[in-house]
Amino acid sequence: MTSETKRNWKPATALVHGGTQRSAFGETSEALYLTQGFVYDSAEAAEARFKGEAPGFIYSRYANPTVDMFERRMCELEGAEDARATASGMAAVAAALLCSLGAGDHVVAARALFGSCRWIVETLMPKYGIETTLVDGTDIDAWKSAVRANTKLFFLESPTNPTLEVIDIAAVAAIANECGARLVVDNVFATPLQQKPLALGAHVVVYSATKHIDGQGRCLGGVVLSDKAWIDDKLHDYFRHTGPSLSPFNAWTLLKGLETLPLRVRQQTESAARIAGHLACHPAIERVVYPGRNDHPQADIVARQMTGGSTLICFDVKGGKSAAFSFQNGLDLVRISNNLGDAKSLITHPATTTHKNLAEAARLELGINAGTVRLSVGLEDADDLIDDLDRALARAA
Ligand SMILES: Cc1ncc(COP(=O)(O)O)c(C=O)c1O
Repeated sequence: MTSETKRNWKPATALVHGGTQRSAFGETSEALYLTQGFVYDSAEAAEARFKGEAPGFIYSRYANPTVDMFERRMCELEGAEDARATASGMAAVAAALLCSLGAGDHVVAARALFGSCRWIVETLMPKYGIETTLVDGTDIDAWKSAVRANTKLFFLESPTNPTLEVIDIAAVAAIANECGARLVVDNVFATPLQQKPLALGAHVVVYSATKHIDGQGRCLGGVVLSDKAWIDDKLHDYFRHTGPSLSPFNAWTLLKGLETLPLRVRQQTESAARIAGHLACHPAIERVVYPGRNDHPQADIVARQMTGGSTLICFDVKGGKSAAFSFQNGLDLVRISNNLGDAKSLITHPATTTHKNLAEAARLELGINAGTVRLSVGLEDADDLIDDLDRALARAA
């Protein structure tokens, strides 16, 4: 195999070439190694590989050449030393959170989390004796006050799903460092292009690669990125023995997704900014939350820690749930779906879908109201999307 090594590439170049390992055939596109296992020339060679004395792949639950290319390319993009790719975003979150914790440890997490992430913190961790505290992630003093002698981990997502709250990652990382905890950041909404949590002081970054990284609605995937020592000491054995591994076929699909990630994210963000501006002036809309607008509640942090707005917009339709439902049902082009980051524009009503398991008070505390919808802007022409939204709002009224 020959490897393409980084030569101070800019992200767009790294996303086309980074991590490529060519076989002796010299293929242009990344090879798909659809194999479960690997063979050895001798029993001694197998023994040496298992002992870690000789390089090479052993079994695709541990590592696979196509998955390895995806992990290397993600490391180049993120500026991380090492990575492990997983079968879904939730497998990445669970691995990143659970691999280093034990009974008696304490976790502080922002309360504004994707429903399944919050379930891990609120429901699963306590079952295994892990203490957890949820805080308002935008309140830096709340992170400080939540720290206990046994605090081992901080966890947040920013911008948050679905209300696009932005948390000051550098400030939270500083508190984590003071108490010797590690900060895990779910960077799905920002994408690896618009926010660099490791550079801001976070210790671990996780992605649902299902979202913008695939970006074309094809396969699930995830990835955990961090320093090599943590991956070797904490994640490696958890990963190897619990088996959340990414399939080589999905890794290949995600490698193809990475090639076009900058083009898609740039276009989708540009359209989203235009649509957010349009919706903010619409009489049927109560509130628009969009990072990148001056009226975003954390506009100063957005300016400091993100290089772009977002491909997502959160807004409230006047008239509550029935108006939000009529509006969604009136859309012809934008499809109703709880996924995001796709080439197709997708809309969801978080209170009855992604965040339906939260009690009403907890939902309202997060700003998820009866009329709140989350729009993931795709690659369609922004004029067509605006026409579709306007028509559906008029019908709902
Ligand atoms: C912020 C966030 N984290 C994690 C996930 C989980 O990703 P996956 O669906 O790939 O398991 C999602 C999915 O919607 C998400 O929005």
